[in-house]
Amino acid sequence: MSETYVHGYHAREGERLQDQAGTLVDLLHSDTAYPGGSLVLEAGCGVGAQTVTLAQRSSDARFTSIDVSADSIAEARRRTDAAGVTNVEFRQGDIFALPFGPGSFDHVFVCFVLEHLSRPVEALVILDGLLKPGGTITVIEGDHGSAYFHPDSAAANAAIGCQVELQRRAGGNSLIGRELYPLMAEAGLDDVSVDARMVYVDASRPDLVDGFTRKTFTAMIEGVREPAIAAGLIEPKSFDDGVRDLHRTTEADGVFCYTFFKGVATKRRRAGASFQEVASA
Ligand SMILES: C[S@@+](CC[C@H](N)C(=O)[O-])C[C@H]1O[C@@H](n2cnc3c(N)ncnc32)[C@H](O)[C@@H]1O
Repeated sequence: MSETYVHGYHAREGERLQDQAGTLVDLLHSDTAYPGGSLVLEAGCGVGAQTVTLAQRSSDARFTSIDVSADSIAEARRRTDAAGVTNVEFRQGDIFALPFGPGSFDHVFVCFVLEHLSRPVEALVILDGLLKPGGTITVIEGDHGSAYFHPDSAAANAAIGCQVELQRRAGGNSLIGRELYPLMAEAGLDDVSVDARMVYVDASRPDLVDGFTRKTFTAMIEGVREPAIAAGLIEPKSFDDGVRDLHRTTEADGVFCYTFFKGVATKRRRAGASFQEVASA
């Protein structure tokens, strides 16, 4: 990950992810619930923006939430403690070098992480290997190419393009949502099903105007101002015009649309599976 664009690490970025999680809870999580007693790995939990929701919605499941960033883990622990959540164990760890054996988990959950990885298919293969037969892997990603709005603005699209380009240079892909199905299929996951979840925001939805258009999406674009200018991707005035036009979509006649993609795969019980594998599944 680049020094200049470290999605999820800075305090402001942590707040943005928290706003995003709070605003989008129903859209992203309404169909995710894990049975009592199941072991769930949350890979790349960041500052715990999804962790509190996941753990509260499946209060009898046990979560192991890992992230490569020790600072993010510390913040995530603070947030779950503050929320009174007791069914999460946090560990620092890299998805590509996790200390868990094959079949350690009943379910895996990954949100807004693949977009930062240069080897997302390899990550999915590794995470799938940690699943027990019959277990699920859930992956949620955005796609910044899915942002469209009224009034339309070339300047706003140019500012968004800076974010996309910086993330690409850092080895990630902020247009990954549209690739979720092919990536999960390439990783050999079983019974993959992806659906698109659109956030539609107009002035009749003030919570989304504030929580999503302003504090999530526009804040994220504003956050790349300095690195985008330093990289020579855009002139300061053009960038500021773009951000101004994104804010313009939050006015009474403005509209903002964005699509998230949620994929779920269920690990099949293999033909010739051992008696223990079938019995314990
Ligand atoms: C955009 S944040 C998303 C955090 C959280 N899942 C959420 O939805 O708010 C991406 C997270 O992935 C973590 N990450 C990136 N590469 C990783 C890796 N190889 N192993 C574990 N975590 C990783 C980052 O540290 C960061 O916290």
